Amino acid sequence: MGKVVSSFELSLKHRPLGQTLAKWLYAELKSAILDGRLKPGLQVPASRDFARRYGISRGTVVSAFERLQDEGYLTSQVGIGTKVSAKVPPGATNRRSSHELTAHLQRVVSNYRRPKQFVNWVMLPGVRPFSMRNPALSEFPAELWGRIAAKRARTFRSWIQQEDDGSGYRPLREAVAHYLGSSRGVTCDARQVVIVSGTQQALDLLARFLLKPGDPVWMEDPGYFGASIAFDRVGARIIPVPVDDEGLSVSAGIKACRNAKGVFLTPAHQYPLGMVMSLRRRIEVLEWAALAGSFIIEDDYDSEYQFRGQPVPSLQGLDRNSSVIFVGTFKKLLFPLLRLGYIVLPPSLVEAFVSFRSGSEFHSCGIEQSILSDFIVDGHFGRHLRKMRDLYAERLEALLHYGDRYLGGLLKLSDSKAGLYIAGFLQNGMTSPEAEAISAKRGIETRSLARFTLKRHDPGGLLLGFAAFDEKSIRAGTIQLAGALGGR
Ligand SMILES: Cc1ncc(COP(=O)(O)O)c(C=O)c1O
Repeated sequence: MGKVVSSFELSLKHRPLGQTLAKWLYAELKSAILDGRLKPGLQVPASRDFARRYGISRGTVVSAFERLQDEGYLTSQVGIGTKVSAKVPPGATNRRSSHELTAHLQRVVSNYRRPKQFVNWVMLPGVRPFSMRNPALSEFPAELWGRIAAKRARTFRSWIQQEDDGSGYRPLREAVAHYLGSSRGVTCDARQVVIVSGTQQALDLLARFLLKPGDPVWMEDPGYFGASIAFDRVGARIIPVPVDDEGLSVSAGIKACRNAKGVFLTPAHQYPLGMVMSLRRRIEVLEWAALAGSFIIEDDYDSEYQFRGQPVPSLQGLDRNSSVIFVGTFKKLLFPLLRLGYIVLPPSLVEAFVSFRSGSEFHSCGIEQSILSDFIVDGHFGRHLRKMRDLYAERLEALLHYGDRYLGGLLKLSDSKAGLYIAGFLQNGMTSPEAEAISAKRGIETRSLARFTLKRHDPGGLLLGFAAFDEKSIRAGTIQLAGALGGR
């Protein structure tokens, strides 16, 4: 059971005409206990304090408390005081069941369809190979983060007024613009940066801002379901466009729907297959967008982690027509609990977008933004990324090494040298969902590639995350996975 809140603030309803004070108070407290508003174990204030707080005579309070004690709703012990009973008396039920919905709400629930990508989505307890949820959390400088956080929280009065006009904390936007310019080749200044609570919020806002029901939009197939879910919700018409070794096939997109309003892309590290979009295709997609007057959403989710050569600069940096909207997240670079990401917009889109965004929230959490801003400006961010790049490169090498040793004839790992996960292609005749399910039964978390397809048939493979695991766990996980896929 979670910790019980020890304070006692209860809103009491108006007393019906003709009901005595004692009866009314008794009924109110009993109903709060049965509703679960007053949790078992909660300390009830002394009758004198209670009477003062609610403006009732002490005698009335004592009489209501005594009746509730007699019936087993409250317990009282000398030296400890009065508490809500750990157990509600048997046979006591609340008249108003909180599970009953009105007809309309019931219809909403029955009509709601969980996105197909999450059907049978097994999350094994704990973090075990080859979960993709976390980066290497144990390596994160949490102490340092905590010190910055404490200082920011203590001194908030001095910086709270620092500009956040709905686009985000100004110093953080400057830090992000600087980082993206130097590290990702993004052409922007702080005015174009809007801080959001992660990529998914960015995609949800952008889909609603940019598209109307029925608007055609290209999606990589297979591709990132976060984007297709956001497009689907606005009723856009998703046009699946195949990807090959060079990334999205622009000619296939044009053939399927030349006049699409936009495209969602992961050019630095295609999600989920892992290839880098070639320069030729980048130029093609920019030319198409300029000609068709369409937008490109570039999701740059883990491009910092390129282990072969230099990170490929952003597509946004090549854009001369303000077609590209660049989106990124700090989740994979720092830690997933930090719900902060950013959108870099073409300058003339900023004002309308920020106004639109205020319809769902005015700005992201100020304290978190200020901590992150210090973390970047003081150089900790850059240091952490460099350290993580080396660590993840080693972990990927370990996975490739043990994959070679144990997964031969079962799963061929791709030769992509980037990101925090890798795709593997099944060689044992199983479909992706079968392989995912059988691995989960053996305690190994993988993601079936079939979850990411739109029209394309099952690519026959699994995604394996490696960032959160040391060499020993990677070896053990690979052996277990081989056992699952080999039917041993
Ligand atoms: C392609 C891609 N984009 C973005 C994200 C992260 O999004 P968010 O910041 O909403 O957690 C993920 C996954 O975690 C991803 O796989």
